[in-house]
Amino acid sequence: MMDALTIFAGTANPDMARSIARALGVRLGACQVERFPDGETSVKLDEPVRGREVFIVQPTAPPVNDHLVELLAFADACRRASAASITAIVPYFGYARADKRDGQRVPVAASMVATLLQTVGIAHVVTVDVHTPQLEGFFRVPVDSLTAVPVLADAVRERLSEGTVVVAPDAGRVRMATVFARRLKTPVVVLHKQRESGTKTKVLHLVGDVRDRACLIIDDMISTGGTMAKSIEALLEAGARPEITIAATHGLLLDDARAQLAHASVRAVFVTDTVPVLQEDWPQLRVVSVAPLIAAAIRQFMTDGSLRALG
Ligand code: R5P
Repeated sequence: MMDALTIFAGTANPDMARSIARALGVRLGACQVERFPDGETSVKLDEPVRGREVFIVQPTAPPVNDHLVELLAFADACRRASAASITAIVPYFGYARADKRDGQRVPVAASMVATLLQTVGIAHVVTVDVHTPQLEGFFRVPVDSLTAVPVLADAVRERLSEGTVVVAPDAGRVRMATVFARRLKTPVVVLHKQRESGTKTKVLHLVGDVRDRACLIIDDMISTGGTMAKSIEALLEAGARPEITIAATHGLLLDDARAQLAHASVRAVFVTDTVPVLQEDWPQLRVVSVAPLIAAAIRQFMTDGSLRALG
């Protein structure tokens, strides 16, 4: 069955594409990606895809727009070359936070991206811990959102001390925190976060008890690190023990995210490899791979199996 599939690596995370291909025992499809001096993207497939089940691995990580256009170009090339089906593996889905109109005369960018992906012939989308599960509703084609929670929970488990609480940094993460807590057998604490701008947030309330407790703050993503920094502050103010572990699926780690998380109480920061993590010289940072999870999902797709066992 695996001989019917071709995996192409976009430029957003070629290491992850290589790991997926290795886990499946296949080689990556030959292709070339170039950026023209004017900023345009050019993609060329260097092998036939007629009748093939094609998987394109491309998180729409920063620079989001370039990587998105590259994904569209890959899919368009595959469709015009008569691929049997095109699946976009988008481990990090840029624009997922723009899932509603926050104000007047603004777009719903996540819906716009969904329309674009389908227009170029993408017939199946696979993501990991997408910001809002309702994103699926913007698509008419199947969307499978895998979760990195089991992989992250296994990675942090040994490092957590007795009595640790799992902290959802905002209401949107309560479900994810609950899944972590169920796996780690801990209580959940919820912070009420208010976003003041793209980079500024404020914690208004804390629901639960953190006094003398170590904390595991979880999130779908760390972008500027602002949410984590404010969460740490609020937890310590509420009497938490200065023993904080952080676990987030997507480590975008932009701007001064590392500085934001450089708090004496932070013991470790766990992220996955959905986007390439470049902060090599950061002793607290641990990167766990979700490539085996994605490879296992592809194996199920190729055999019409179920994703249920993947967590
Ligand atoms: C927001 O609702 C998300 O779940 C994350 O909390 C947020 O996007 C993280 O961004 P930053 O690191 O810039 O605060």
